[in-house]
Amino acid sequence: MVKGWSWLLCNLLLLSTSVYVEVEGNISYKPLPSLREQAQIRDGWLKDRISRIPALLRKHGVDAWLMSQREHAEDTIWWSIKNATDYDAHRRTILLFHTNDSVLEGKPNPIKWVDNTGQAWPELLHILESFNPSRIAINVDQNTAFAGGLHVGEYDAITHALGHRWMQRMVNVPLLGIEYVTTRLDNQLHYYRDMQDIVWMMMEEGFSHRVITPGVTTTEDLSWWFREKMLTLNLSTWNHPRVSVLTEESFPGWTGTEDVIQKGDLLHIDWGITAMGMNTDTQHMAYVLRDGESDVPDSLKQGLKKANRMQDIHLEIMRAGMTGNEVLQKCLAQMKLEGIEGQIYSHPIGDWGHDAGAVIGFTNLPKHVPVLGELTILPSTYYSIELYAYHFIPERNETIRFRIEENSYWDAETERWKFVKGRQENLYVIREPRDSTPLLNVQV
Ligand SMILES: *[C@@H]1O[C@H](CO)[C@@H](O)[C@H](O)[C@H]1NC(C)=O
Ligand SMILES: *[C@@H]1O[C@H](CO)[C@@H](O)[C@H](O)[C@H]1NC(C)=O
Ligand SMILES: *[C@@H]1O[C@H](CO)[C@@H](O)[C@H](O)[C@H]1NC(C)=O
Ligand SMILES: *[C@@H]1O[C@H](CO)[C@@H](O)[C@H](O)[C@H]1NC(C)=O
Ligand SMILES: *[C@@H]1O[C@H](CO)[C@@H](O)[C@H](O)[C@H]1NC(C)=O
Repeated sequence: MVKGWSWLLCNLLLLSTSVYVEVEGNISYKPLPSLREQAQIRDGWLKDRISRIPALLRKHGVDAWLMSQREHAEDTIWWSIKNATDYDAHRRTILLFHTNDSVLEGKPNPIKWVDNTGQAWPELLHILESFNPSRIAINVDQNTAFAGGLHVGEYDAITHALGHRWMQRMVNVPLLGIEYVTTRLDNQLHYYRDMQDIVWMMMEEGFSHRVITPGVTTTEDLSWWFREKMLTLNLSTWNHPRVSVLTEESFPGWTGTEDVIQKGDLLHIDWGITAMGMNTDTQHMAYVLRDGESDVPDSLKQGLKKANRMQDIHLEIMRAGMTGNEVLQKCLAQMKLEGIEGQIYSHPIGDWGHDAGAVIGFTNLPKHVPVLGELTILPSTYYSIELYAYHFIPERNETIRFRIEENSYWDAETERWKFVKGRQENLYVIREPRDSTPLLNVQV
């Protein structure tokens, strides 16, 4: 079937770096490695990351890091130190990371107990007596989830087992958990990019006539189409896809809108996938052509361009070592100079969709974020650059938030933050179905 040249050209431009091919309307996705291979790869990354813990402890002047957890009541850090084939911790699992110095040199690191008889406590005590650490970190921070994952019951159990003498030596060092969880390795980027490719492909498919029939398909239908599609691609998620029809009023936080998708609608999605221990977080926009229209109205293109300009400013200004609040304030100042109104609320991403580390604004804290905004940006972290630009659309007499989000990394070679895949510079366009194009209609 011959498609219009402009349609083809538009898709070629949009997809030139993509790994999928579309043959007569069929999209084929590049698979990730088999689960078995993924487990091997992930355990390799894990080993590398764990081997850095002794140096991290020394950096923060700590001799040991103690975690204790029970099945279904794990420390937050558990999810970043467990092996790929492990899920919940078994029974009571106690882990003692140490600096590999002196007495404990040659012992496993961490030293690990899996126990349901109480036998682990005297053994832990014995280890502590012989190695005599003066500062032992435990995860009891009040503000940072990644440094505050020790359950109160476990804290009481530790206190009971070790007594005052050892509890006096316990310290709260939030940067330990934050820096450990945020550490990305160079060889993860390749797979992270593949995940981004899959995310973009799914949006190409979802925001097309294959899935959307204007006047019939609802935003909810589309959200659930993404959920079901993930299953067929062997992916899971941390973030239910939220599809919205963008209007002046619609700025839903944790939900999409409830609308039947109509011609002329500006659509938006906020969602992510989970695979290989990594997460994505993306926001893109799409436009449903009206009858007789062959292209997106210029005013909408300009809105996206403005949001793209905010991304440029953000990546340009953001540097490791700055606090999240410093980045935020400099970005806002530059936006003001350029006459751009909008908001930034970027965050680290990696082991978690909302990962540990400095945040750069929150939707409800647009200018300054206490605690999490005062942390410094680390170069070994992926950042999700999340923002919107206000743009007035004369045809609608409405000011709309142009909301986009892409995941970025620090490229040491060029000394710049870059998007892992790229960024949306063209809206997806939902057109009339072509006769012989297979449709994957959402069943209402
Ligand atoms: C596209 O998909 C349809 C339906 O699954 C199938 O019948 C057709 O052969 C496919 N076309 C190509 C070129 O792969
Ligand atoms: C999903 O997993 C199945 C079963 O292992 C496999 O046959 C299929 O190719 C996978 N699909 C993708 C897109 O990875
Ligand atoms: C992960 O597996 C290795 C090798 O089997 C084992 O030594 C280690 O204790 C496991 N890690 C955890 C946190 O259970
Ligand atoms: C610490 O000791 C363990 C066990 O001997 C070893 O496998 C590991 O590489 C050491 N780590 C560091 C950072 O020296
Ligand atoms: C545009 O909207 C503003 C406020 O929402 C309203 O006051 C004005 O009358 C509208 N203009 C037109 C042409 O509808």
